[in-house]
Amino acid sequence: MRTTLAGAFGLDVSLLQSGMGGVAGTELACAVSNAGAVGCVGGYKLVGGALSAMLDRLTAGTDRPVGVNLIPEVVGPEELDRQVAQVLNETPERVHLSFFGMPDDAVFERVAAAGRQTVVQIGTAESGAHAAAHGAVVVAQGIEAGGHLLGTSRRDDLVAALRALLPDTCLVASGGIGSPEEAERALAAGADGVLLGTAFVVAHESRAHARFKSAVTGADETDTVITDVYAIGWPGRRHRVLATTVTTDPGQPAKFIGKTVVEGKPYLVPRFSAAVPTEATSGRIEEMALYCGRSCGAISDEVSAADVVATFARVLPGPEAYKTKERVESYVG
Ligand SMILES: Cc1cc2nc3c(=O)[nH]c(=O)nc-3n(C[C@H](O)[C@H](O)[C@H](O)COP(=O)(O)O)c2cc1C
Repeated sequence: MRTTLAGAFGLDVSLLQSGMGGVAGTELACAVSNAGAVGCVGGYKLVGGALSAMLDRLTAGTDRPVGVNLIPEVVGPEELDRQVAQVLNETPERVHLSFFGMPDDAVFERVAAAGRQTVVQIGTAESGAHAAAHGAVVVAQGIEAGGHLLGTSRRDDLVAALRALLPDTCLVASGGIGSPEEAERALAAGADGVLLGTAFVVAHESRAHARFKSAVTGADETDTVITDVYAIGWPGRRHRVLATTVTTDPGQPAKFIGKTVVEGKPYLVPRFSAAVPTEATSGRIEEMALYCGRSCGAISDEVSAADVVATFARVLPGPEAYKTKERVESYVG
């Protein structure tokens, strides 16, 4: 039976916050979950002690459903296995696994056997059907999205195609949603909830660099471009970013343009790095990968994560929405 996203997770609001590597730390994820939606930390390349430290903070910061996002194509199958094992061993059942792109079938089975929910973001109807067959909540990403792009379809075309294919699957729309009105369009196309990335980049609790946040609030959709230039660390996948001097002139040398710290460890940032500038990054922020969706046109203020959730809660279904509709239909019938 079809259920709202809130119904699937036991939430108040059918809203997922994207686990964004570097940007979505435990403060953001916990604030979103504590506000009644589902927060998610970006696991990205973390493993071992650094991942454990993040998981400890995550489970201490909220006792509500929350997630950990992992990216199979960035880490490869062996490292992903290590990351998944760590999350399953070190967190309680209310922590779900969220994947950007498709994990191997064995990963689905392992997560399900541990009694956890799996969320998979996809960009084609075929991969949506594959993830749904494994019992995942399916996030349909359109090309309006900020960050790396999984397909070439517009969000609502993909949502409608998937709804026709998968009448009972819990389907979440992603890409270009910066206002409640845009969320309503995605629901009308057949979604059971929405996922927001860029809208949470500018939240007070996000770890995005202050100049990244102000670039997003000052931009509109025409300031974003799809490119493949920020490939160091994550090659071979197109991404939507704010246009920079690097996207307009990709012939520049790949020299170091800044430095950053990830879970206490220092790194140099080369030009063309896929890493986003965070509050721990210094250097030429304006040349770095400023992932940003077309949603930025509707995002003009830095607000708290709870404010973002409250703004969208006005239009998003709660846990009971379809049950109520069925009751009405059976009464009328
Ligand atoms: C700054 C930024 C970083 C992102 N990093 C990730 C990530 O690490 N994992 C992931 O699953 N998706 C990531 N995404 C993509 C989102 O999951 C989602 O597809 C996108 O944000 C939706 O479009 P929107 O930004 O218009 O809301 C990122 C998006 C942004 C804007």
